[in-house]
Amino acid sequence: MCGIFGYIGHRNASKLLVKGLLRLEYRGYDSSGVVVKNGQLQSYKDIGKISEMASSLPRMKGSMGIAHTRWATHGGVTQDNAHPHLSNDGKVAIVHNGILQNSDTLRKRLVKLGVKLNSETDSEIFCHYIAMELDRGKEPLEALQNVLALTRGTWGLCVLFEDYDFVLCARNGSPLIIGRGKDEMFISSDPHAIREHTDQLVALEDGQIAKLNSLDFQVMQTDGKEVKSNLLDLEEDWGESELGDYPHFMLKEIHEQSQSLQHCISGRLRHAEGTSVLGGLQIRPQELAQLPHVRLIGCGTALHAAQIGQILIEQWARIPAVSHVASEFNANDPVINPKALHLAISQSGETADTLSAVKEIQRKGADVYGVVNVVGSSIARQCGKGVYIHSGPEQSVASTKAFTNMVGALALFALQLGRSRHLSKTKGKSITREMRMLPDKIRSYLENPGSIDEAVELVTKAKSVLFLGRGISSPVASEGALKLMEIAYIPCLAYPAGEMKHGPIALIEQDYPVVVIAPNDGVQDRTLNAIHECKARGAKIILIHEEGDPISEVGDVCISIPSTIPMLTPLLSVLPTQLIAYHAALALENDVDRPRNLAKSVTVE
Ligand code: G6P
Repeated sequence: MCGIFGYIGHRNASKLLVKGLLRLEYRGYDSSGVVVKNGQLQSYKDIGKISEMASSLPRMKGSMGIAHTRWATHGGVTQDNAHPHLSNDGKVAIVHNGILQNSDTLRKRLVKLGVKLNSETDSEIFCHYIAMELDRGKEPLEALQNVLALTRGTWGLCVLFEDYDFVLCARNGSPLIIGRGKDEMFISSDPHAIREHTDQLVALEDGQIAKLNSLDFQVMQTDGKEVKSNLLDLEEDWGESELGDYPHFMLKEIHEQSQSLQHCISGRLRHAEGTSVLGGLQIRPQELAQLPHVRLIGCGTALHAAQIGQILIEQWARIPAVSHVASEFNANDPVINPKALHLAISQSGETADTLSAVKEIQRKGADVYGVVNVVGSSIARQCGKGVYIHSGPEQSVASTKAFTNMVGALALFALQLGRSRHLSKTKGKSITREMRMLPDKIRSYLENPGSIDEAVELVTKAKSVLFLGRGISSPVASEGALKLMEIAYIPCLAYPAGEMKHGPIALIEQDYPVVVIAPNDGVQDRTLNAIHECKARGAKIILIHEEGDPISEVGDVCISIPSTIPMLTPLLSVLPTQLIAYHAALALENDVDRPRNLAKSVTVE
């Protein structure tokens, strides 16, 4: 996590730095700061949102500086722990994204040498060690190389010097992009934060260092050997998302789902053949015939989409599929079959755990296809193949439209896979027909979302909320619970409906809210058992069901969604859960778009 922005040129750096940080706020926002070179290094940092820091930022005159927005890893959310960190002589300033594994040892060594430490962070050591190297007469580049040789961990690092007119950057595991403007250079954790200034972008690779002045930059390996870097091809303009008439990005993004799903599926469905075509997921027939299994990897909302993708692939393509929590994937030295198909699912394309799983799979000889939203992101580049889900920028920390498009893209893929194996054309056509109708059905539901207020009243009064679903609705229950917990801070538990009696039933007392996702999908009768078991113990059932379904009789609060084929119901049944979470957070006066402690993109393992 954390976002870095840097500027070297002829314009006022502090203004551009703040603007850049605001574009990176999704990466963390517990504290932020800037340092600008104006003869001396002038720095300012504070806790709180970037806008708060910016409003008290003193006037800074220089045209070269670096800035940081933080998501705390080592050390609490304090002004001292915010970046930038400066050496005690004030001559070296750093901003860092990543985690140093041997920072305790390096900090202790500094203390022994009499260096005063000013924060509890792992990052701070960089400025002190670099300053010591400079004191020993080393040039900045060599100083940085020597310090990097001492450290173990991950870094996206920028260093600004009082006595030199250039910035040094280094990347190992945390992204850094350089943008070349006219007599000015930009540095950012994210290509899209510099896109408004230039489309001449270069991504640093792991193990690389860059030296930048306003006119030019050189990229080299850690040993100083210069390397040629290629311009980043972002294919499409990401654009900037504005709130418009919406009070929050989350609500805007919920309402964009009809259009964004349309974007995801348009041009990819072939109704006459009852199939779909995802250019980036074309697999040779021979490989397909030998495909032993599919593995899908993701975190958070992307994991829930992966769990739905797993079911779709098994159902339509009849290939064993399994989804994995990305952060657990590498823990047990996974056995990788190079003939298997691996999919990495990620909105940001920057999630460190997912990226690390991708690298592990590749290291063991298999290919990974990315199912990613952000064009040109680290996972998209690392995979080198795959599909973009085309949600457009998603700014709310709580993911909504990216979820629907991940599921949409995985449905297209499962269909393509199924049709190239045993799925009949007739069945394929019934799927394409339904998929084409989904954007309209999403729109029609959102125009008339039903009893959300009643549901909100029940959940906001509760100590905790249980979400239940069976089959393809089980990951929807998990997604609904995640959303409510993330932004309303209400403890939520999601369980497969049938498993409820093996534990969560102990939670149920009079008026306890249970959200049940129960489309008419062939397993509904058994979900009904769970509903009765909850009701018998006094639970209040918030029932998400298809319109006209008599199951509504058992709900205390009933929210009806348009009907579709069972396997596509997640694209509709998730909508009320998003609205419940949004309105519950609002009722509790929480910051909907920037919930506490979370970040949109988690770039540390
Ligand atoms: C963070 C975000 C979640 C997101 C998850 C995975 O935890 O807060 O909303 O689902 O990361 O992110 P990704 O970008 O890989 O989909």
